[in-house]
Amino acid sequence: MEKLLNISLLLILNSVATSQPVTDPVAFLRCLERQPTDPASPNSAVAYIPTNSSFTTVLRSRIPNLRFDKPTTPKPVAIVAAATWTHIQAALGCARELSLQVRIRSGGHDFEGLSYTSTVPFFVLDMFSFRNVDVNVTDGTAWVDAGVTTGELYYRIAEKSNVLGFPAGLCTTLGVGGHFSGGGYGTMMRKYGLSVDNVVGSGIVDSNGNIFTDRVSMGEDRFWAIRGGGAASFGVVLGYKIRLVPVPEKVTVLPSEEPSEKEPLIL
Ligand SMILES: Cc1cc2nc3c(=O)[nH]c(=O)nc-3n(C[C@H](O)[C@H](O)[C@H](O)COP(=O)(O)OP(=O)(O)OC[C@H]3O[C@@H](n4cnc5c(N)ncnc54)[C@H](O)[C@@H]3O)c2cc1C
Ligand SMILES: *[C@@H]1O[C@H](CO)[C@@H](O)[C@H](O)[C@H]1NC(C)=O
Ligand SMILES: *[C@@H]1O[C@H](CO)[C@@H](O)[C@H](O)[C@H]1NC(C)=O
Repeated sequence: MEKLLNISLLLILNSVATSQPVTDPVAFLRCLERQPTDPASPNSAVAYIPTNSSFTTVLRSRIPNLRFDKPTTPKPVAIVAAATWTHIQAALGCARELSLQVRIRSGGHDFEGLSYTSTVPFFVLDMFSFRNVDVNVTDGTAWVDAGVTTGELYYRIAEKSNVLGFPAGLCTTLGVGGHFSGGGYGTMMRKYGLSVDNVVGSGIVDSNGNIFTDRVSMGEDRFWAIRGGGAASFGVVLGYKIRLVPVPEKVTVLPSEEPSEKEPLIL
């Protein structure tokens, strides 16, 4: 009986110990080094901690909302600028091991700063190195990585074709990772619907570090959830496979201002 009590006490103490977040940036680096690694691209080489000279630059480079860029804004323990699947798995492993919250950031345009702030100890898993766009004009599809901006996507499509486009947001610095996972509306919405209506596949890493590279392996429920439900609750989106839509070669755009007594609409 006493032994049993001791064991359960040990278990309780243990769980208390591991539920206390470890907020020492160096401990975070050491943790990344302990995770499975690709020798060609070590995990710690893509990690920025506050003592790295470029930490603040990298952190602020995707904080478009200055309300969340104050000295009092809670700062991450580290930024992991993942460039490979292994980096993502290592970061998630350390989130578990050190009881830190993960904030995933693609374009950083979250209205509430949720991709780079938190009220509990956290680090940023930054997706800006996931920047590949593969346009296949023959079958009218493209693969677009999560860290690509909408502007980059439009540009890459236009490089290959002047009669194909993609319905998404107006602002060209939105990250595909956050934008598509929230729906994505824009000027082509009335003809072609939302971005997610034209998303035909995706890849995701779940919270346990399992990688699903396509729609079939991730399952229809998860695929449905990450197209409108805000993907951060379901995993780290690697990218999306999209169906391009036909657009006219030339488009005429004219601004029209409605005189109004009310507050002007500020975009
Ligand atoms: C100036 C401005 C203009 C906008 N214009 C439009 C518009 O025209 N049409 C429209 O529909 N919306 C528009 N939005 C809203 C925009 O689509 C959302 O804020 C979107 O979430 C931004 O995505 P992001 O990757 O840039 O943001 P982030 O801040 O990086 O991410 C937003 C959310 O998604 C999560 N997330 C990011 N990347 C991933 C990933 N790879 N895997 C899992 N979760 C992830 C983040 O954790 C966060 O919760 C606009 C926003 C701004 C600030
Ligand atoms: C940040 O500094 C640590 C050592 O303090 C180093 O291991 C890491 O590679 C640096 N990060 C970058 C992106 O240079
Ligand atoms: C483009 O799509 C076509 C038709 O599905 C396919 O045969 C071809 O291999 C694709 N090209 C590339 C570069 O993936």
